[in-house]
Amino acid sequence: MKKLIVANWKMHGNHNKIVEDITNYANNAITNQANVVLALPVIYIPIARQILDKIGNTNIKLAAQDVSKFLSYGAYTGEVGANMLKEFGVDYVIVGHSERRMFFHESNHTMAKKIDAAIINGIMPIFCFGEEIWVREKNKHLEVINEQLQLLHLIEVPIKNLILAYEPIWAIGSGRVPTNLEIMEVVGLVHGFVQNYLSHAKITTLYGGSVSSSNVESILSIAGNNGVLVGGASLHVDEFSKICSFA
Ligand code: PGA
Repeated sequence: MKKLIVANWKMHGNHNKIVEDITNYANNAITNQANVVLALPVIYIPIARQILDKIGNTNIKLAAQDVSKFLSYGAYTGEVGANMLKEFGVDYVIVGHSERRMFFHESNHTMAKKIDAAIINGIMPIFCFGEEIWVREKNKHLEVINEQLQLLHLIEVPIKNLILAYEPIWAIGSGRVPTNLEIMEVVGLVHGFVQNYLSHAKITTLYGGSVSSSNVESILSIAGNNGVLVGGASLHVDEFSKICSFA
């Protein structure tokens, strides 16, 4: 089975870039694959959907970078509900990215509610977790990651499928990548955790943080790791297509 390649554009891009890049990916056999997921700024999702539908025969999946914790319509200024995302064929949503934790102070409770809302609406959550540099330097990363995974206990709806993305904060946008052994250690912890708690669910694990075309082959070869979450490198069509070619 092909590994999952998720592009996280964060707050980058503009209308022209979306049109050009999506058209390019849809017409390229390497990227026009069901294991290729594009997490775009939410305002561009309908345009991307339109382009993909117009070209037809496209396998590429769309993701949102965030979702409201509120389940139904209501007076929640600025929010975008999972049901709204689903209307535009969004299949995945990123929850718990360190940038949302840092800049928007998202609590475990909020993140769990977002995961609930996504699952209820048939959207697959990609839950991100990972330690800060000082935590790793103190060799406390497994402890901290184990604590972060406890959030899964707050999820109220039955979990059949879940994506868990290990994103060490010190690796994001820094060009620094953990060794394969370091990633393997965390992947092992995650599988151990879900075996106890989510043994009935299908869990997909991803690694994210400075993934590029020069390190992705090695990262994808790590036993138990099912794919990558790509930030900066996903903004360049050639580079991202190259990354997808290793899946
Ligand atoms: P990066 O970002 O690939 O630019 O390090 C990854 C992420 O934040 O998801």
